[in-house]
Amino acid sequence: MEEILKKKIEDRTAIVGVIGVGYIGLSLLEAYGNAGFQLRGFDVSQERMELLNRRKSYLNFMPLTSLFKLMDEGRFKASSNPDVLDDADILVISVPTTLDEYHNPDLTNLRAAFKTVRSHLKKDQLVILQSSTYPGTTEEELLPLLASENFKVGEDFFLAHVPEIADPGNEKFSFSQIPRIVSGITPRCLELAAMLYESLGCETFKVSSPKVAEAAKLLQNGYRLVNISFINEMKVMLEKMGIDVWEVIEAADSKPFGFQRFNPSPGAGGDCIPIAPFYMVWKARATKGPTTLLDLSGHINDKMPLYTFNKIAEGLNEKGLPVKGSKVLVLGVSYKRNVNDTRESPAIDILRFLKEHGAEVEYNDPYVEQLKRVDMKNTPLDYDKLDKYDAVVIATDHDSYQWEKVLKNSSLIIDCRNALGELEGTKSKVIKA
Ligand SMILES: NC(=O)c1ccc[n+]([C@@H]2O[C@H](COP(=O)([O-])OP(=O)(O)OC[C@H]3O[C@@H](n4cnc5c(N)ncnc54)[C@H](O)[C@@H]3O)[C@@H](O)[C@H]2O)c1
Repeated sequence: MEEILKKKIEDRTAIVGVIGVGYIGLSLLEAYGNAGFQLRGFDVSQERMELLNRRKSYLNFMPLTSLFKLMDEGRFKASSNPDVLDDADILVISVPTTLDEYHNPDLTNLRAAFKTVRSHLKKDQLVILQSSTYPGTTEEELLPLLASENFKVGEDFFLAHVPEIADPGNEKFSFSQIPRIVSGITPRCLELAAMLYESLGCETFKVSSPKVAEAAKLLQNGYRLVNISFINEMKVMLEKMGIDVWEVIEAADSKPFGFQRFNPSPGAGGDCIPIAPFYMVWKARATKGPTTLLDLSGHINDKMPLYTFNKIAEGLNEKGLPVKGSKVLVLGVSYKRNVNDTRESPAIDILRFLKEHGAEVEYNDPYVEQLKRVDMKNTPLDYDKLDKYDAVVIATDHDSYQWEKVLKNSSLIIDCRNALGELEGTKSKVIKA
């Protein structure tokens, strides 16, 4: 049976439907589109689907030119109505995996997407779960919804997990330059999924089960969370000793083996590193496994915005000013440089703490017009008027900022990214945080 789908993949007549057209969904659609497949996109966000249909991108770093061309040619249809998936031969799930208020996985999006798959499942179809999730999701949650006595996985339909691995805004690694960890419920499922990703020009790394692929993705995210928290804790330790963590890192990084550099920050943000490792923690608790290091790393990460806030308060105090009533400008509120993604951004907590303590706070970010979570709007940046602020906080170091002017015109700077590190000028007014 898989011969039919293999043929459709080989001659690119397969229609690929993506469920969840966010950053990952769009990257997948671009990759499948560039490889010659016809595309369908379904997203619950009507606003996003309307923007796409008006040929407008909602991500500043993805112009989507090739996708819009495919739309013009009728080869890509996007809708907030799941019926758009009706003729799809391949369904790929790329919905967000989030946490609830207790820091446990919130499986609402995944389960809703699984139901969408079930209602569109047909013979010879390949279903791929691409969202990051806990080990066991594909086999324990998705498979039982789809398979039945008369509709067998590996025979009537095919199910695979290929975790998404991406670094938004990093132009060094295009979709096809990132190796794909591929798994399938049965050997045929694995073979089909591998064939599909190889048809996109990706190198594939095949593993024995979806559980291994799910765990491998969480190992990658957990590794980053642990190391980011470690370097941030080193920063706090070294500061107490009067030692500059950035100089220490430069020195340590001279070692040509056994050391990977991680940079201090006001905390790890985005929808992966602060979240996905807690899918592992949750599953580990259920299986009575140890969770100490991941738990602790998450705890350290959560505390980093408070550390930054304290550094701002210390700086103001040195000027004889209380936080209350002080004018503070935060530069850069997305979670990483040059992107407009503010999910889990530490800058949001920094803004919140400042507001809660009565500061007159503003933010500037060339990519973020408004921040609904703290009810704030972007303040246009006037470099010549930076001296009107009692403190300027560098939370995210977008390339477009002119750091010489920030250094020259501000009276107190809290620099969370070492953005001013290399510059000549008065460093006594700069606090590294
Ligand atoms: N962003 C990254 O850098 C990155 C990297 C690797 C892996 N991932 C993983 O990929 C997955 C998707 O992440 P993303 O960054 O694209 O998220 P996103 O928030 O940018 O996009 C997800 C989209 O899914 C839509 N959606 C939510 N529930 C839906 C449903 N039931 N049916 C249809 N659409 C639905 C949302 O409206 C949104 O547009 C997550 O599991 C994430 O952990 C993300």
